[in-house]
Amino acid sequence: MGIIGGEVGYRLLRAISPNEPGGMTGGSYADRSKIEALLGEGIWDEIRGRTLIDFGCGAGAEAIELAHRGARQVYGIDILERWLAIARQQAANAGCQNVTFSHKPSEPADIIISLDAFEHFADPAGILNTMAGMLQPDGCVLASFGPTWYHPLGGHLFSVFPWSHLIFTEKALCRWRSHIRNDGARRFNEVEGGLNQMSIGRFERLVRNSPFQIEYLETIAIRPARLLHNSLTREFLTAVVRCKLALRDSAKRLRMVNAA
Ligand SMILES: C[S@@+](CC[C@H](N)C(=O)[O-])C[C@H]1O[C@@H](n2cnc3c(N)ncnc32)[C@H](O)[C@@H]1O
Repeated sequence: MGIIGGEVGYRLLRAISPNEPGGMTGGSYADRSKIEALLGEGIWDEIRGRTLIDFGCGAGAEAIELAHRGARQVYGIDILERWLAIARQQAANAGCQNVTFSHKPSEPADIIISLDAFEHFADPAGILNTMAGMLQPDGCVLASFGPTWYHPLGGHLFSVFPWSHLIFTEKALCRWRSHIRNDGARRFNEVEGGLNQMSIGRFERLVRNSPFQIEYLETIAIRPARLLHNSLTREFLTAVVRCKLALRDSAKRLRMVNAA
């Protein structure tokens, strides 16, 4: 998609940012619960006594918090063994008995929580199918993710400056990134942890073709741009997407047959 590439693009990027750019540090949750900030205060009532999956759990902080704050059992799921090992250690340090970390859960869940992960899954349509197979028939997915691809920082590390990931070519950006990351990625989707160029519209289309239906989907505006945020600008000015997905009736019936 980008237009500035080749040697010129690469050299410009190196000149603009010779080292790791600042920006997305995750520090905005330093003093408060990320789960509560993204899913609202009502989340604690919703999870009480329930079996949960934290899909794309990373280092496990949120899965452990869910376990501490009333869930019956939490399964933290991640594709990277490195994160799972860290998460297990954190749970042991916290003395948390009702959370386990692995590649798949050992029982169906009432609720799947997924934070900041849908823009990273290499095969998000496949993940929706996988999630459907991990839920009780009446279960739901509570997901929050972003920045999505057209957000000023939607390129994550590739957003050297706002929207740079749309202006420079993938090749120039990956060549620039090879100086600060050594995973050998030559495409956006090859970076460790994944980056799938998810947009809000694409997510809605994926859900339409999945076993799920959207119960609600909210697009939360980038705060300084909130007066400009509307259905035409949402791809560019949305900070966070927040949604609840429930199984369609056909998928519920399938889950009931499988459980019988
Ligand atoms: C940005 S991190 C978010 C971690 C955590 N949920 C949080 O909010 O801090 C995205 C996570 O999704 C995981 N992930 C990517 N693809 C996955 C997949 N196919 N299955 C499970 N986890 C995956 C990554 O390894 C990473 O830990």
